[in-house]
Amino acid sequence: MSRVRTAVLISGRGSNLKALISACAKPQFSAELVLVISNQADAAGLRHARAAGIPARIIPHTEFNNRESFDAALNAALGDADVELVCLAGFMRILSEGFVLKWQGRMINIHPSLLPSFKGARVHERAIESGVRISGCTVHFVTPEMDSGPPIAQAAVPVHAGDTPETLAARVLEAEHRLYPLALRMIAEGRVRLENGRAVFSGYECADDVLISPRE
Ligand code: GRF
Repeated sequence: MSRVRTAVLISGRGSNLKALISACAKPQFSAELVLVISNQADAAGLRHARAAGIPARIIPHTEFNNRESFDAALNAALGDADVELVCLAGFMRILSEGFVLKWQGRMINIHPSLLPSFKGARVHERAIESGVRISGCTVHFVTPEMDSGPPIAQAAVPVHAGDTPETLAARVLEAEHRLYPLALRMIAEGRVRLENGRAVFSGYECADDVLISPRE
């Protein structure tokens, strides 16, 4: 079985990277991690790549004069490793339109809200302020407009009455670690693709449970 050559781009903690590493460690998993790139030399997540023996490259954005030249270095590194699919996992750089279009349909991101709600930053704080009773996370295809690409998979969690941004973030993060490997597998198995700006599915299994919050 040939496995889809996948890179993960990070900037920090790397807990989603760790979840993807565990998933790809299973012999029957349809994607393999061939490269991790961080724009931060001290990203804690780099240790997960090293522990798993996955090549890790540090490409500090501060060494480039503009976004385009940084993105060209990213693109070259991905090309050197024959990468077919890119997973953004807490990668804190806005990517240029040219780079995004080059990887369109082959680049996915995870965001800690049920998009299109709460795009951008301070997600959990804003979710709590808004009073929603359910939040969650989304894996989506990356398109030039931030956090706006078509969703591939979503997971929902309750927002508790006493939640702080930290407690809600921790609950959503657990869901992220389950969702990202599932979305990666769906793409790698060719069960979802980007077509005319929408995610198109084949071999899609619907979840059939209802999350009601608060409890009935
Ligand atoms: C996650 O919450 C992810 O949804 C967001 O950034 C965070 C990264 O966390 N895009 P980690 O580095 O994977 O632990």
